[in-house]
Amino acid sequence: RKVGILLSGRGSNMMALVEHARGYDVTLVASDKPDAAGIAWARERGLATFTQSPKGMPKADYEAAIEAALRAAGVEVIALAGYMRLLSDAFVARWRGRIINIHPSLLPKYKGLDTHARAIAAGDAVAGCSVHVVTEELDGGDVLGQAEVPILPGDTADTLAARVLKAEHRLYPIMLAEFVTR
Ligand code: GRF
Repeated sequence: RKVGILLSGRGSNMMALVEHARGYDVTLVASDKPDAAGIAWARERGLATFTQSPKGMPKADYEAAIEAALRAAGVEVIALAGYMRLLSDAFVARWRGRIINIHPSLLPKYKGLDTHARAIAAGDAVAGCSVHVVTEELDGGDVLGQAEVPILPGDTADTLAARVLKAEHRLYPIMLAEFVTR
């Protein structure tokens, strides 16, 4: 199955998806940030890339541009990997059940931003990450799988984020492989 990845930054989850691809091909890496580190990596790797800044554009036009690139690349499933923009309801509806995301918390806990600081502040003993289907509700679709890591004494949001990120890199390729073959 052909997968398109959307990202906005570093792209470490995209790299994990590319390096551990099984049962799927990454045929496009797209970004709303033309200078995202993940885009530079994908280009070096010889992957097809597409960047479109949404600045000064109606959201529908911006999304139509991304969508045209995804369709031209034959994309059947979209994997969000640190894509920091909300997809419109219309976009989600057109790709219903074919978009997944990785979120750095054990959903349904801590939807949205600052997940690690919130988990530490709550006194949680475990944190983790979730791969879920994307719906119109932010971080709200069916959870496909999760990985847990401990929260250790002295953890800061950064040290916890680094531990969770390693778990993300293991979990996401497995979940995407399962998703595309189900
Ligand atoms: C990850 O923590 C992911 O869970 C969240 O955004 C971050 C993206 O990091 N959605 P990267 O760009 O994949 O390195």
